[in-house]
Amino acid sequence: MHALCIEKLAVSQVRNLVDGEFRFGDRFNVFGGDNGQGKTNLLEALYVLATSKSFRTSKILEIGAHGRDGTAVRIAGELREDGLARAQSIVVARGKRDVRIDGKRPNTLLTYAVRTPIVVFHPQELALGMGPDSERRRLLDRIALFLRPAAAHAYEAQSRALKERQAALVQRGTAASDLESWEALAVEHGRAVVVAREAAAEALGEAAADTFREIGTPGLTFSLHYAPNSPTSDDAWRSKLAERRTLDLHRGAPTVGPHRDGVTFALDGVGMRGVASQGQHRAAVLAMKSAEIAVLQRARGVRPILLLDDVSSELDEKRTAALFDFLRAQEGQVFLTTTRPDLLPMDRSARTDFSVRNGQVLLAPGNS
Ligand SMILES: Nc1ncnc2c1ncn2[C@@H]1O[C@H](COP(=O)(O)OP(=O)(O)OP(=O)(O)O)[C@@H](O)[C@H]1O
Ligand SMILES: [Mg+2]
Repeated sequence: MHALCIEKLAVSQVRNLVDGEFRFGDRFNVFGGDNGQGKTNLLEALYVLATSKSFRTSKILEIGAHGRDGTAVRIAGELREDGLARAQSIVVARGKRDVRIDGKRPNTLLTYAVRTPIVVFHPQELALGMGPDSERRRLLDRIALFLRPAAAHAYEAQSRALKERQAALVQRGTAASDLESWEALAVEHGRAVVVAREAAAEALGEAAADTFREIGTPGLTFSLHYAPNSPTSDDAWRSKLAERRTLDLHRGAPTVGPHRDGVTFALDGVGMRGVASQGQHRAAVLAMKSAEIAVLQRARGVRPILLLDDVSSELDEKRTAALFDFLRAQEGQVFLTTTRPDLLPMDRSARTDFSVRNGQVLLAPGNS
């Protein structure tokens, strides 16, 4: 299995982080420190380096340091994959992202985003099975784009077609002559989105079920259900869009399409939302994370980088033990934050400890 790691990171003007450059170990990198010091900000910077997106906000501008309006945010890193070094960087200035791989601008942001497989696990995600479908759709899409990078075009094209259709409805009414062609495009590209999501759901569901068997409630089977909101035949889908023109005009949004697909976590076939216990939800999310790692690993032939944001503080003893077992089994590069580094079970020889205080990230004493 190929190795992938982030060897160096440089940050400038990122949230509360003091500008600086850090060199990491290729196994466990532990960021310890009190609350509010910048530990999550550092993980976020790593995630932005890998994907050009944040896991905390959809507004990339928010990662800029407060009170430094106009100063560009810069995150740069050196990575090594299968023995080959590469440089990646992202500069956010005036609301725009400039991403580079080895100094060159990739064709699309997505080309950049799928270059470095990375999986993040943070406390808000412990509620993944309880929240709205949109969060689980995002999970499917993240994986779908690794499995089928070519589907990226379909995602954009179908949402553009639905937007154009909506604009036509508003401006020219339900009999507008171009509606039919927008609807045909929405279905054509929408179908590609559904197919990509189906592939992701199947791969993730299987892998998560395996892990849930080990860490979940004995005897209960976990499954992931993907229920497309659109009809199974393209003809029926187009007809449905045509039928819904008046409704969609009144609603101000399309009521058929992938943006309304259902994604459910289930135990023994019963949806977990509103039913399962907290512990079961957490076990399901942990199973889902290990599934993400397994699926990306298979898709890319490289172990994804894993980011864990202070997750154990939210878990009970049994789940923490499961998490630690899971961590010890990780063979790739891992970055963790914690307020209690002393409680982490990793071997000294496999970990590099940093302390984070007031935005300053320093190699902790005792590291070589
Ligand atoms: N855009 C920003 N500019 C400057 N400072 C920011 C910005 N966004 C957040 N901060 C500051 O960063 C700090 C929080 O950092 P972070 O979330 O990384 O803490 P943490 O070490 O992970 O804490 P916890 O253990 O509580 O999770 C807060 O002091 C917050 O005010
Ligand atoms: Mg934090």
